Formats: sequence, structure tokens, C-alpha cells
Amino acid sequence: MNRITKLFNIQYPVIQAGMIWASGYKLASAVSNAGGLGIIGAGSMYPNVLREHIQKCKKATDKPFAVNVPMLYPNIEEIINIIIEEGIKIVFTSAGNPKTWTSFLKEKGITVVHVVSSVKFALKAQEAGVDAVVAEGFEAGGHNGREETTTFTLIPMVKEKLDVPLIAAGGIATGRGMLAAMVLGADGVQIGSRFAASVESSSHEKFKQAIVDAQDGDTHVTLKELAPVRLIKNKFFHDVVALYSTAPTVDDLKTLLGRARAKKGMFEGDLEEGELEIGQIAGLIHDIKPAADILNEILSDFEKAKQEALSL
Ligand SMILES: Cc1cc2nc3c(=O)[nH]c(=O)nc-3n(C[C@H](O)[C@H](O)[C@H](O)COP(=O)(O)O)c2cc1C
Repeated sequence: MNRITKLFNIQYPVIQAGMIWASGYKLASAVSNAGGLGIIGAGSMYPNVLREHIQKCKKATDKPFAVNVPMLYPNIEEIINIIIEEGIKIVFTSAGNPKTWTSFLKEKGITVVHVVSSVKFALKAQEAGVDAVVAEGFEAGGHNGREETTTFTLIPMVKEKLDVPLIAAGGIATGRGMLAAMVLGADGVQIGSRFAASVESSSHEKFKQAIVDAQDGDTHVTLKELAPVRLIKNKFFHDVVALYSTAPTVDDLKTLLGRARAKKGMFEGDLEEGELEIGQIAGLIHDIKPAADILNEILSDFEKAKQEALSL
């Protein structure tokens, strides 16, 4: 038992990240059933779709699971109402101010975790009353910090100042990576990219294969003027690079991005025109397999790495 397993009442301090177009009830329930914490990613769901996923998740597992609410998407109030009506016990908020919803959710008896990418925001989240903080380094897939602080530097710096439990995210896909994050001061880990390439991930098979095919250096953070996001360098990414060479306005970038790019890439499998969000650690992901197998492999690799570390 550690601070994270106690907080969420789970077996292992491994959290499957909330991910648009990847983490529906199938993935969340598979991870929770295997002893980690599964998260339904509300960011890509209309409110009625989220309700359906929550209800299906409750049927698929009797273990704790959470909902991730990225605050940059519309319909937040409706999403929060559904979370309360459905009796969700754990919420991970991200991409916004932790003060907006934390006290409201806490009053309803919900455990609240906020995702940050800097020491400053970790402390702001703690001040807002969260139960734990996810500190996410620049390696991570999806939306990303502007400061470019890597997990290796962020975790010990946050650890130095933070009192509430700390969850490390960004670049962790193995037990070895998990051990490293915990040695640096994390109480648990949040893993995204590795679970995006799982059988239960709702992403398109072509996107999952693109994750397996990606090597180191194949992703890059772009669109900082809108919301920095780490993407595979596909045709859409190169179109963005070409536009940057013309000194575009924010509106020009918005026009190129258009609507539903992420859905097109990750859910519909358009590897050319779609946005393909994945982390640097994709270079270490070599297969698509069931989420329970991924978790078990991480746990056995963690034990092995711990033994090896004893002889250092
Ligand atoms: C495909 C994809 C979608 C993501 N969507 C979200 C999201 O909706 N909300 C969020 O807070 N983070 C999102 N993230 C970030 C993850 O929650 C997590 O913090 C990150 O993936 C951890 O880094 P890793 O990919 O190196 O494991 C996403 C990441 C990926 C790869």
C-alpha cells in the first residue's frame, strides 16, 4: 500500500491516462479489473456518450475508475453534472485552472486530481484543494506544457515542494520507467501512449499501428499558439510546419487545424490529414496487446528492474 493505492483504493499505483479517442469504457474497465486505475477520457465525448460509457464501465467492473475532464473542451458544466448524477468517485481535471471545479467536486465527495506541467501549477492545484497532482513532462503525448520541462526534471522539482501525493506522467511505458519515476519522487505513474496501443483502446487500428511503427524522433510539439500538442510527423504536421514558414496569425493556424482533426486521425484512421497525438515513448512500443497484459508486463518489469537496481 502506498499513498496512491490508498487514495484510489486500487492494487497497483498505475493509472491509465484519460485520452481523447482512445480511453472509453473498454480500456478503463480492463485496466481497473487488472488492478490499476482506469480513466474514461471525456474530452472526445458528447455528454450523452459520456453517460453511456460511465454506465457501461460500471457494468464491466466493480473496481474504482475515474473520469478525465480536460477543461479546454465545450459542455464542461453538462459533463460535470453527468459525473455527479452517475456517482463518479474520482475525477482527473486537466488543461485549465484547478480552482474552477476542485472545491465544487470536493463538496460532492469526489476525489480530485489535477494535471500540471510545472512546479507553479502543481502548487496552485494543491492550494485549490486537490487530493493528488499529476506532473506531466514534455515527452508526453497529447497536449503539453509550454515550458518544455521533461519528466526527469519536473518530478524531483515538484516533489521538493508538494505535500499531496504525486503522480508522474510523460515517457513512461515500462516497469523500468515506472521505477525511475518513483525513485525521482513519484508515488505513482500515469501512462498514456502505451495504453493507446492496446486492444481495448477505441482508437483506429491504423493509428495503433502508427504508434508501433513510430521511432524516436518521429514526434514533435507544435501549435503552441493554440494549445501545444505532441504529434506524429505526418502530412498534416508538415502542412503546419509549412504554414509556420509564412509567419501565420493565430487565425491562420486555427483555419488550418479546422475542426475534428484529432478524430480524423486517431478515430477514423486518416494517417495523412489527421492529428496523431502520441508521446516520445512510442519508440519503445512494439506491439498492440490487451491492457491487462500491458499492466502485468509493466509490473513484472518493475520488480525485475528493482532487483537489478540493488546491485548498482
Ligand atoms: C492519444 C492521446 C490522447 C490524450 N488525450 C488527453 C486528454 O483527453 N486529456 C488529458 O488530460 N490528457 C490527454 N493526453 C495525455 C495523457 O493523459 C497522459 O498524461 C500522457 O499520455 C502521458 O504521457 P505518455 O503518453 O508518454 O504516457 C492524451 C495522450 C494521448 C497519447
